Amino acid sequence: MVRRIPKHLVRKGMFIESVECPNAEFSHRRFLVQTDETVRAILATSAAYALINPQRSTINIDADATLAVEEQKRTQETVAQGASMLRDSFAAVRSGDLQVETLGPLADEISDRIDASPEIFLKVTRLKSKDEGTYVHSLAVSALMMRLARLLDYEDATVRELGVAGLLHDVGKLMVPNAILNKTGQLEAAEKNLVRGHPEIGYRLLKDLGTMSPLTLDITRFHHEVLDGSGYPLGLKADQLSQEIRVATVCDVFEALTSARPYKRAWTTRDALNWMFDRGHLFDKKLVLRLGSIFE
Ligand SMILES: [Fe+2]
Repeated sequence: MVRRIPKHLVRKGMFIESVECPNAEFSHRRFLVQTDETVRAILATSAAYALINPQRSTINIDADATLAVEEQKRTQETVAQGASMLRDSFAAVRSGDLQVETLGPLADEISDRIDASPEIFLKVTRLKSKDEGTYVHSLAVSALMMRLARLLDYEDATVRELGVAGLLHDVGKLMVPNAILNKTGQLEAAEKNLVRGHPEIGYRLLKDLGTMSPLTLDITRFHHEVLDGSGYPLGLKADQLSQEIRVATVCDVFEALTSARPYKRAWTTRDALNWMFDRGHLFDKKLVLRLGSIFE
């Protein structure tokens, strides 16, 4: 899989698929970097990133510790800042004054990070404190949804809209006490009802803003619906669940399974995908397979 790296990390032995700049010297060229002069020439361009093909490179890109450390640092910064921004945005939803356009740049930023390295992105977002759990989960679901949507050839504008929907889909959890969200033992009936109320509450909050797209409203309301009608809040069946809603559900469940929660360990990517694939009555198998292809 092609990797997108900051240009200052380009070195001899890397195979360049493209240098993201309008500079005529590198446009539409694919080549192996063989000299220090080429490295310097790439550094001198206006590009911020280059696309590298690990298979055609003569050095082992994936084992390149510097790249991984840089990327992890950058992802950690984006996730920390994103979680704090999302906390403010959720509060703004509650008080009725969220400016939805402020979320687009955040969606773009996390989309860049998961594109640069899905493995590092998930490694970073799997670590969540109780306090920021919902926010980091939402960032991760948003990033996975955008990545999956690109694989499904959605247009850029829709990809971004799905990213924003991913950021906001759990906003209804604002109304569920943290003590319940983080409870390690079994939930009592009343607590369970509160948790299961979060899609409808989120939907109402967002609808009241009057500025949310129908797609965001649907995803917020229906991301816990499953194909056989056993989901909630309405128990919708497969033919009532659009591909966009299914994308949200699959990413949401995958993210939850692969994260450590106060009441469960984190599953591996493989175990989570297998478990979901074996439940074709709940989740769209085609989308589970596509999601898995992100990590191949
Ligand atoms: Fe949810």
